[in-house]
Amino acid sequence: MEQYAIKGGNPLVGEVEIGGAKNAALPILAASVMTDDTVYIDNIPDVWDIRVLLKAMENIGVMVRRENRHKVTINGANINSLVADDEYIRRIRGSYYLIGAMLGKYHYAEVALPGGCDIGCRAIDQHIKGFRALGAEVCIEHGLVKTQAERLVGNHIYMDISSVGATINVMMAAVLAEGRTIIENAAKEPHVVDLANFLNSMGADIKGAGTDVIRIRGVEKLHGSDYTIIQDQIEAGTYMFAAAVTKGDVVVKNVIPKHLESISAKLLEIGCEVKEIDDCVRVVASKPLMHTHVKTLPYPGFPTDMQAQITVALGISKGTSIVTESIFENRFKYVDELIKMGANIKVEGGDTAIIDGVEKYTGASISAPDLRAGAALVLAGLAADGITVVDNIHYIARGYEDFHQKLRTLGAQIELVNSERELQKFRLKVG
Ligand code: EPZ
Repeated sequence: MEQYAIKGGNPLVGEVEIGGAKNAALPILAASVMTDDTVYIDNIPDVWDIRVLLKAMENIGVMVRRENRHKVTINGANINSLVADDEYIRRIRGSYYLIGAMLGKYHYAEVALPGGCDIGCRAIDQHIKGFRALGAEVCIEHGLVKTQAERLVGNHIYMDISSVGATINVMMAAVLAEGRTIIENAAKEPHVVDLANFLNSMGADIKGAGTDVIRIRGVEKLHGSDYTIIQDQIEAGTYMFAAAVTKGDVVVKNVIPKHLESISAKLLEIGCEVKEIDDCVRVVASKPLMHTHVKTLPYPGFPTDMQAQITVALGISKGTSIVTESIFENRFKYVDELIKMGANIKVEGGDTAIIDGVEKYTGASISAPDLRAGAALVLAGLAADGITVVDNIHYIARGYEDFHQKLRTLGAQIELVNSERELQKFRLKVG
């Protein structure tokens, strides 16, 4: 089984290049089947979730051609099955974007209920509500979401929850519906905006993405496009916190600083220097980290996907901090692992972590419970005294391209090991 072996204590220093946003690429790839024309998508991250979605798309007859590691050509003219139900589809969350895409284009879709990280109940009632409002029948049978419509007709839809997935799915179905759709209380995340820009580049008429009211005028059909996906806000934020917890100095390159404002604000509060230089942010952590409080919120609030990374930093900050998770109900599972490393954190009521900062973490054998928490535990290992071994790192590969390689270019002592022997070799090497 693959593990990360980490010798902590090195300040990370240097430059790291950020790739395309996974959570934008997933819906954009799914939406690219909504035309029979060819679509070219650039800047896709080479991560496990994306590979799985592309495989699932191939399995229903979509032509997928990798031009290079980050560019793909897609043609959905010869889809031969409107039933997407295979081992791939069931593994990832993003596969449910095929529901909105196929419902919009073919007025029919059967897609296996999605998987994804186990971070709490991940309901899809708002997706279903939106599809029904557009005139579709929806039911869940034998583990599949089945939806069909004679006609899709625009409607006024109020989302009870600001949901990224539901906003995206309903937006996709609505672009090919008759008439106007208004989505209120829409999610405003950068990936929602990126999908809207992509659909507009295919001939859709979407206005207001990025605000909480999205207005869509249905069009008859979509055409091909050549599109470049935005940079990954969460990958960038993770390296910014890697600089903070290792007392480093890292220039995170190729980012959209606007998308990082809530992350930069918290880094400043805990005593880091954060400088924006064009499409780069530099994080310097030369002073001891200070405590703060943070609550995860929909964009532009502090992202739930950065909650574990900031908790790791606050775990070694001076004073008492409170982290409140308001999006998912089961996102503190990694805290037990941090406690093995010496953290003093108590989780109350499932959604609040009370953190009494300790001076340092100490290396331990720990296990990644999900994607973002896995990355955060690696950061803890990089900050810790001694050697940390992280299990279940396949989670990290779902969303971070070349994670350990990028960390190594910043001076991290981290290696992928496959056996006890390799681990022993690492121990001997790093002393
Ligand atoms: C997306 O998940 C992301 N995943 C998540 O990133 C991210 O944490 C999340 O948005 C919030 O930003 C992808 O983009 C593939 P939601 P999603 O619908 O769409 C509730 C990562 O690590 N809800 O905005 O599933 C839901 O239970 C992943 O990259 C309903 O109640 O998130 C949750 O509490 C993890 N009914 C809240 O809304 C619904 O119909 C937000 O979920 C839909 C959602």
